[in-house]
Amino acid sequence: MADALLCRDVRKSFGPVRALNGTTLRVERGTIHGLVGENGAGKSTLMKVVMGEIEPDSGRIEAAVRPGMIRQQLSTIPEFSVLDNIIFGNEPVRRGLITRRAAAAQVGELMEQIRLPLPLRAEAALLPPALQQRMEILRVLYHRAELILMDEPTALLTPYEVDALFDLLRRLVAQDHTVVFITHKLREVEALCDAVTVIRHGRTTHHWPDRSFSVTDIAAAMVGEGAADAGPVHPARGEITASDVLLSVEVAGRQVTVRAGEVTGIAGVAGNGQDALVEHVCGLAAHPGFGSVALGGRPIDHWPTKRRRAAGLRLIPADARQWASAAEAGIVDNVITSEVAPAFTGRFGRLRKRAMARHAAEVVAAGQVVASGIEQKAGELSGGNLQRLVAARELTPGGTAVIAHEPTRGVDFRAARAIRHRLRAFADQGGATLLVSSDLDELFEISDRIVVLYRGTVAGQVARGDFSRARLGALMGGLAGEEAAS
Ligand SMILES: Nc1ncnc2c1ncn2[C@@H]1O[C@H](COP(=O)(O)OP(=O)(O)OP(=O)(O)O)[C@@H](O)[C@H]1O
Ligand SMILES: [Mg+2]
Repeated sequence: MADALLCRDVRKSFGPVRALNGTTLRVERGTIHGLVGENGAGKSTLMKVVMGEIEPDSGRIEAAVRPGMIRQQLSTIPEFSVLDNIIFGNEPVRRGLITRRAAAAQVGELMEQIRLPLPLRAEAALLPPALQQRMEILRVLYHRAELILMDEPTALLTPYEVDALFDLLRRLVAQDHTVVFITHKLREVEALCDAVTVIRHGRTTHHWPDRSFSVTDIAAAMVGEGAADAGPVHPARGEITASDVLLSVEVAGRQVTVRAGEVTGIAGVAGNGQDALVEHVCGLAAHPGFGSVALGGRPIDHWPTKRRRAAGLRLIPADARQWASAAEAGIVDNVITSEVAPAFTGRFGRLRKRAMARHAAEVVAAGQVVASGIEQKAGELSGGNLQRLVAARELTPGGTAVIAHEPTRGVDFRAARAIRHRLRAFADQGGATLLVSSDLDELFEISDRIVVLYRGTVAGQVARGDFSRARLGALMGGLAGEEAAS
């Protein structure tokens, strides 16, 4: 079969950082090709080279068909309509005027062909992430791309939406399109991909041209020979002793609590109030469905976020890029901004630069952040490395309660396990961890109990001994409203 894409020995450095160091990728036409590797391995950089956005230092790129990319950060133009987003840059023009009707007809035909309906007149910003992603897929198809590069497309999707995306990708390859699929979820590779390439430190280390791979082979190739295993996260403590409630929030008339030493998980299908709960507890926005928030027994409803932080409330947000970092600032400043100032202010208000640098280096080490140095700009870190940095920053000593909202999104499997270890350890050392996650395995691994949200209310609460997919699934689907288990 012919190749849709051949990247040969591609190299690219950013200053001292060797992002690509001899990467080779061969993608057969009409296949779904998995591209995997740890955070910072060079996956996104390689895709940008294929798109022509980044000029490689050396190597060859041969694309037999036109490439189009759905990127890690969706590139929706929020104030445009869905249609205008799709046709942007390639509008049909007659006598100098854009003929929207012709465009709508073309896009409509395309939607029909691949069975992907979308409200074309809607304002793009109002679409949920899954539909914005569909819009982007339609955009690249409208621009006649036949090689579709997808950079972690499932990170923002619910399990049901993931299935729908996989069906769509299978339909596309059946119509002779080709897909490069980047993910950290190896089960997705197993379910979807016809071939796999692994990159490690910018170099291709393994390539399976067919489905002869196994998830364990891929994992081994990703982390390299003799990589130390972090080991399983030690189980939760089981019986909760009557220790103090460190954090509580009223959700539609019911109390959700986290005691010292405890991890309380929050499960639910995306869109059932999780985002609002996080915003409400952290003081980013007050939501009417939720009531009083207390930290260490004191109501904090009228406290601004800054005061909540000073009292020990920490937040690992789902999107570190958007909510928890400054792209143009270096790692040191990104770590320090969140700290209570006196620790780094010396006499006469002078900043203690050396103490700041030492602290930043500690956070980088604790989070196993791969960076060229502590002055590297946050905007230059790979997606997963930025998430690692923010998680490590929020889990430094001094915190009482941490809200972890999809803390391992975009993080490779080994680092994800390390983050779960640290969330558990935070609780074991007497803190309170509220883990909001769409990943049931993640919740099962470290939670003492799981509260299920459904339509902004508590559908039920399950204690550690009673965890099961069936039980949780029923509550998440609104099928089994129950009284509180504890
Ligand atoms: N514009 C840039 N300037 C400096 N360094 C960069 C830049 N873009 C990427 N890098 C570095 O290149 C390396 C590869 O980054 P890349 O984003 O390709 O990784 P990735 O495999 O996509 O990781 P992730 O799984 O975390 O998304 C990282 O060390 C990153 O810090
Ligand atoms: Mg990336």
